Amino acid sequence: MKILITGGAGYIGSIAAKYLIDSGYEITVADSLERGNEWAVDPRAEFLKGDLLDKKFIGKVFSRSFDGVIHFAGYISTGESIEKPELYYKNNIGSAMNVLEGMASSGSDNLVFSSSAGIYGDAGIMPISENSKCSPPSPYGETKLTVEKILKRQKIKSISLRYFNAAGAMPDTGLGEAHLPETHIIPLAIESAVKGKEFSLFGTDYPTIDGTCVRDYIHVLDLAEAHILALKALRENKIFFPAYNVGTGKGYSNKEIILMVEKISGKKIKIKKQERRKGDAAILVADNALIKKTFGFEPKHSDLKIIVQTAYNWYLKKIG
Ligand SMILES: NC(=O)c1ccc[n+]([C@@H]2O[C@H](COP(=O)([O-])OP(=O)(O)OC[C@H]3O[C@@H](n4cnc5c(N)ncnc54)[C@H](O)[C@@H]3O)[C@@H](O)[C@H]2O)c1
Repeated sequence: MKILITGGAGYIGSIAAKYLIDSGYEITVADSLERGNEWAVDPRAEFLKGDLLDKKFIGKVFSRSFDGVIHFAGYISTGESIEKPELYYKNNIGSAMNVLEGMASSGSDNLVFSSSAGIYGDAGIMPISENSKCSPPSPYGETKLTVEKILKRQKIKSISLRYFNAAGAMPDTGLGEAHLPETHIIPLAIESAVKGKEFSLFGTDYPTIDGTCVRDYIHVLDLAEAHILALKALRENKIFFPAYNVGTGKGYSNKEIILMVEKISGKKIKIKKQERRKGDAAILVADNALIKKTFGFEPKHSDLKIIVQTAYNWYLKKIG
């Protein structure tokens, strides 16, 4: 089965590409490398380098049809999106529109879209179900919600997967998180532990167990599996709902993450308390009952210890 993976040189896309190839899928990766790495593209995949905002590149990618498309490509930083909203509207919505156009013109069907828990905002009631109010606190979240709305009006079959916090790595294969700049707490805390750098803890007065933000961490391998399940459902026309949360249902505070990194690394982290960041909700924890019930999804690698241990091993490998 031929699958196009956009953003397959990025963190989640590169690991998903490897996982799908190992599961017997034939993969084409399309990525500009603007925020990804060529070394992360699986050598068994066909690699097309280009910008999905470029119609000529879209024509090249969709010069043949695909049995399915996973659209990971996009910009991912909440903070950057608050500073430069137009960049996010243009890239995240524009690339999705172009991919849809390419799919229609080439007769491709079955789209899995990388949505995000960033569409919910401070939902109030925890855990957050797919029916919870969507009130994105950032342009990043708005782009995800907008694309979800566009997809609902398309003939092309699609499923949006609303990831909570993707985390963890596959150090044995040389794949893991390598964002530049890095904005995610686990790699940043690991870097602080290893290099003895100060760690900025944003917000210590949230209405949570210890005053710091609470998030739901899902291992990238579990995320990859969720994409296979979604692709199968699309191919078999078993699309019961347009969007599914992908999380574990368990939340960890930022302080708990720091403690786990200290435990795994055996090093104390120097914490610098900072003001809250704009766009950060206090708690984001998934109600994952829908994806479990509909697709039989079960996270297998998302124990926090496994997540931090694999991310730590990957960090040590990356810095040599
Ligand atoms: N990392 C997370 O915790 C998380 C959580 C929720 C949702 N998501 C979503 O998952 C997807 C993947 O996230 P990631 O962490 O792997 O990000 P990433 O930045 O590592 O990868 C994104 C890739 O998309 C490519 N790209 C961006 N715009 C492009 C364009 N116009 N044309 C071609 N390529 C382009 C980049 O070069 C990069 O390789 C994103 O859509 C993100 O919003 C991620």
